[in-house]
Amino acid sequence: MQHTLEILISKEEIDARINILAAEINEHYKDSKSILLVGLLRGSAIFLADLARQLTGPVALDFMATSSYGSGTTTKGEVRILKEFDEQIHGRDVIIVEDIIDTGNTLNKIREMLLLRDPKSLAICTLLNKTSRHQVDVKIDWQGFSVENKFVVGYGIDFNQLYRNLPYIASVNFNS
Ligand code: IMP
Ligand code: MG
Repeated sequence: MQHTLEILISKEEIDARINILAAEINEHYKDSKSILLVGLLRGSAIFLADLARQLTGPVALDFMATSSYGSGTTTKGEVRILKEFDEQIHGRDVIIVEDIIDTGNTLNKIREMLLLRDPKSLAICTLLNKTSRHQVDVKIDWQGFSVENKFVVGYGIDFNQLYRNLPYIASVNFNS
């Protein structure tokens, strides 16, 4: 599919925003004995890596994988778990780290799964949020940027598995 990219959020803007998010998270969990970041593969990997290195508490990392858009650009209502978490959830301060919230279906499902394991607390931190697209209520504790209803790539986020390596966020314009 022919397309062009247009930069929406620069690397400098992302770096600055992550510094602020990390400062807030450090303050919020300053007394925590065990913070567990749970990243959703693969999109959150780059955001999680940058965020985690700014956190000062006792931080552990885990990853889950859910089914994604496949090769298209529109959402499928149903969410499939492809890889479960490995770490113990019980008694820990868990932060789900996500690349982008669209309908909110993915996060809702993951949230319910993790709550069954009785974490000490459960929070959601997403880099991007497509607020106007939510189909379900999601309580987001930390968000990098709100974005319009455009298909975006970069900084971990893909289009047909490409562009995850871009250091910025760009929108994809499809030329018909
Ligand atoms: P949700 O369940 O509809 O909230 O879907 C969230 C997931 O869809 C994200 O974790 C991404 O993997 C994918 N997604 C949503 N919007 C975009 C986009 O603009 N570009 C690439 N992937 C997206
Ligand atoms: Mg994702």
